[in-house]
Amino acid sequence: MSDTFRKAAITGHPVVHSRSPLVHGYWLKKHGIEGEYGRVDVAPDDADRFYRDFAASGLVGANVTVPHKETAAAACDRLDDAARTMGAANTLWIDESGKLNGANTDGLGFLGNLDQLAPGWDTNAGTALVLGAGGAARAIVWALLSRNYTAVHIVNRTREKAQKIVDEFGSKTFAHSWEKLGRLLGEADLLVNTTSLGMTGKPPLEIDLADLPKAALVTDIVYAPLETDLLKQAAARGNRTVDGLGMLLHQAVPGFERWFGVRPEVDDDLRALILRDLGVSA
Ligand code: ATR
Repeated sequence: MSDTFRKAAITGHPVVHSRSPLVHGYWLKKHGIEGEYGRVDVAPDDADRFYRDFAASGLVGANVTVPHKETAAAACDRLDDAARTMGAANTLWIDESGKLNGANTDGLGFLGNLDQLAPGWDTNAGTALVLGAGGAARAIVWALLSRNYTAVHIVNRTREKAQKIVDEFGSKTFAHSWEKLGRLLGEADLLVNTTSLGMTGKPPLEIDLADLPKAALVTDIVYAPLETDLLKQAAARGNRTVDGLGMLLHQAVPGFERWFGVRPEVDDDLRALILRDLGVSA
């Protein structure tokens, strides 16, 4: 192995189903980079030691998936704003001084997807309506506030979980139970589904978009099916829509750039490759 051969990996537990090796493998090949992106399953009992002694892994950096994002963040010497705010890191790298850096790129993935597929979407950043209050919702709230949305409403089955996000992010965010959805739709400039509802094998997302302004943008983080019922319904009434696959792909961009020195693009061939692997039709 030469000095220039760099290794990165998806780390977590389990990692066997992760698409990250396919994404990074595509970019390594496209750019002719001598490097490798693999899978490292880190057992929960080993996680603290693994991330605290990350240099011993031989990796220049890594992605982190559930359930280790919080453990990884706690082990970092430095965190970016998103990782610090969320207390969770999904991208790690060792810098020139040997320090372990952590970032949370889920929010950047969300932004990168909309920037690419709906240019100008945040020009009049107004009122956003976020369905769900899990880890993805938290990252998306961070992302929307970073683009100066004036109000971010979070609607969740369990209102207390939405309230926890509001407690973290402050005065521009508002927590609601599901019953408030109808009224909130009427003022939304952006509607985002971050719940698993509508995903293949999960219950449908039952929502009536009648009150949603026609100018509102609608996006879903579910990408299997690629065009969810929510997106279908929105497109049929004339709303602009963006599917969720790009968030998965764009969140990988900053890590690849750190580890391998090239900022990669999310192109049509990459989308097609991942869709084929997911068995999802475009
Ligand atoms: P992630 O961290 O990936 O975002 P998660 O923490 O499992 O995933 O969050 C899933 C979201 O989908 C939550 O907001 C969840 O609502 P609760 O907080 O009330 O559990 C929401 N969700 C999942 N199944 C649901 C259902 N059948 N009806 C309404 N909301 C649902």
